[in-house]
Amino acid sequence: MKDFEQQLSYYADITNKELENIFCSSSLPQKSVLDAMRYSLLSGGKRLRAALVLSFCDAMGGDLRKALPYACALEMVHAYSLIHDDLPCMDDDDLRRGKPSCHIKFGEAIALLAGDGLLTMAFETVSSNSLLNSQKNLQSVMILSRAAGVYGMIGGQVMDMENENKKVDITTINKTNLLKTGALIKAACELGVLSSDKDYSLVIDNVRKYAEMIGTAFQIKDDILDFIGSEEILGKPVGSDENNEKTTYVSVLGLEKAEQEAINMANHAKKALHDSNIKSDFLVQLADFVVYRQK
Ligand code: IPE
Ligand code: IPE
Ligand code: MG
Ligand code: MG
Ligand code: MG
Repeated sequence: MKDFEQQLSYYADITNKELENIFCSSSLPQKSVLDAMRYSLLSGGKRLRAALVLSFCDAMGGDLRKALPYACALEMVHAYSLIHDDLPCMDDDDLRRGKPSCHIKFGEAIALLAGDGLLTMAFETVSSNSLLNSQKNLQSVMILSRAAGVYGMIGGQVMDMENENKKVDITTINKTNLLKTGALIKAACELGVLSSDKDYSLVIDNVRKYAEMIGTAFQIKDDILDFIGSEEILGKPVGSDENNEKTTYVSVLGLEKAEQEAINMANHAKKALHDSNIKSDFLVQLADFVVYRQK
């Protein structure tokens, strides 16, 4: 895993540098909301979605400079989703990435607007990727908007809320998580192959399968860590799901079965990657990382 961790931190570093360039500090009248956007976006995070964009581009033999704007945009949408997810009207969590959540630090109104600002900035960023042609950039807008919207992450967040305090079967949990978490992860993988500027028609179906499997494994592990993880290591509250009477993989399957399901999903992901003929040790190891991570 050492090589994997080095590569992940390389992808995180180049993404963070690019995000710093996009969000250089300013004394504009919008300073308060820009400060809140920077605070949530540049406050750490594993940068897993950026790493997926960059590693798929790499694995396809593409130029990482073309993928970077897409990687940044994914992290903007993700950071926005976390700001809104933590709001009192949603999961009501006070801690994120080891620091006070955006609304605790800046107040609810600015946090709401910082989320909106990040979402909108993501679309500005993908649509103005100067190293790819306008057709690719238009396609990237379609992929990202679908993934972020009601047929993607937002839809999943709504289902997640509506599942609260209910007996829900595993099929519904899977559907919910494929949307709330899986959609952005899938968009990251798709934008990675798109940014490689190579023909990806032969690989795309298996790339999507890989993405769905790691997306599911990722949320199973997130639910497990909310149950047995350490707040100090995670940088976010544990027990939040139980407090909110969420229906999770752990509440439906129990801890042991949930752990086994995450391992199964990671194995399916590796099989899909193998079937795609994409050769990437990083992407194989990422499937295991998702399951064995402690944060
Ligand atoms: C947390 O995502 C929210 C989910 C979709 C489960 P991450 O665990 O990737 O959060 P960061 O980016 O590393 O903080
Ligand atoms: C949130 O899932 C997924 C998002 C779309 C943000 P969770 O609510 O379980 O994420 P955490 O545990 O707060 O990071
Ligand atoms: Mg939530
Ligand atoms: Mg939450
Ligand atoms: Mg969670």
